[in-house]
Amino acid sequence: MAEHPSSSVGGGASKEQLEEAFALFIEASKAIEAQQTQLQSEIQRLSNDLAQANQRLTDLLQALPTGVILVENGVIADQNLAAQTLVGLAIGQAWQTPASWLPTPMPGEYQTSTDSTARTVKVTQLSLAERQIVQIQDITDSLRLHIESQRQSKLASMGQMAASIAHQLRTPLATATLYAGNLGMPNLSPDKQKEALDRLRKQLASLETLTTQMLQFVRQRPQKTEMVSGQALLDEALAAIGPMCEKRNIGLRVQATGLQALVNVERPTMVAAMVAILENALQVSQDAGEIVLTGQSDGARLQFVVDDAGPGIPNEMMASLFEPFATSRINGTGLGLSIARNAVEAHRGEILASNRVEGGARFSISIPCIAEFS
Ligand SMILES: Nc1ncnc2c1ncn2[C@@H]1O[C@H](COP(=O)(O)OP(=O)(O)O)[C@@H](O)[C@H]1O
Ligand SMILES: [Mg+2]
Repeated sequence: MAEHPSSSVGGGASKEQLEEAFALFIEASKAIEAQQTQLQSEIQRLSNDLAQANQRLTDLLQALPTGVILVENGVIADQNLAAQTLVGLAIGQAWQTPASWLPTPMPGEYQTSTDSTARTVKVTQLSLAERQIVQIQDITDSLRLHIESQRQSKLASMGQMAASIAHQLRTPLATATLYAGNLGMPNLSPDKQKEALDRLRKQLASLETLTTQMLQFVRQRPQKTEMVSGQALLDEALAAIGPMCEKRNIGLRVQATGLQALVNVERPTMVAAMVAILENALQVSQDAGEIVLTGQSDGARLQFVVDDAGPGIPNEMMASLFEPFATSRINGTGLGLSIARNAVEAHRGEILASNRVEGGARFSISIPCIAEFS
């Protein structure tokens, strides 16, 4: 190997060469040292930035009105103030919704107690590998606002209703008065007497239906709810509508899947909503026609669909279908669907109507199921 004299510091190197190499070495070390100091201060700066960012995040998290809990291996690793206030668990304790919380019909929603201090909270859980972020939102106020706005719009429609009521009641009342007058006429044959009495009775019965329905329409949000399966609701609705179908010789085909799903409902109200839709389908069906009732659930929502083979919803009714007193039937009250809509919406569900391409109308009701929170 050829020797390179200038790069050698070995035996053959001169004193100058050695000094030069040493000077270079010192210079290089100084440069490295300077770089290291710079790096050090850079690291310090970054750490400060990080600490600041961390503090900002912590402040933000603490200031959040939503409770946030960090769960690691099932144990609370960290939480913000709102979480501690709402849930009352401490860091290090196992995470679970307190036993005193009562689930509401809405998935992940709880009532924190049964007394006047009760809050309604919504719990959502985000899983990241062995970590979970649990969010607890106090929705008491927004729920109250929602109910209040529902009440306001109900009051507004009651105003409209009061005007319609007078109009609705005037004719049947006048007719009933007339029949009652006829009854009092002297020398009335027993046949005529019976006829006037029958008419009067019919008139009074329809007035009773009208007032009952009006009362149903103005009723408040469901109070006494119970846990029932989709199948139980279906059976009850079928028991009510079955005889009417038989009387008119109209077939009722039932298709059911997943109806073991549970819902928390005011049972008679929900059944009445289903029956109102089935009654309408029956009214528009030709004798010997068929109605198809489909009940289904995917576990999240329960849905009932009623298909009829009638003439379909008249175009001019489409916009006002669910409004009180909107009717195209001579003997209709126009309250059936508005009561049904109230009932379904009070259960935070949805009621829809459409005309089918094959002809006939389709009405559907869907409400949220009870989801077990794990
Ligand atoms: N299955 C249906 N097919 C066609 N039209 C319907 C059907 N169901 C309801 N409608 C229309 O909606 C109107 C309102 O229905 P509803 O609120 O039950 O009151 P009512 O039955 O007393 O008329 C009916 O008069 C009718 O015009
Ligand atoms: Mg009706």
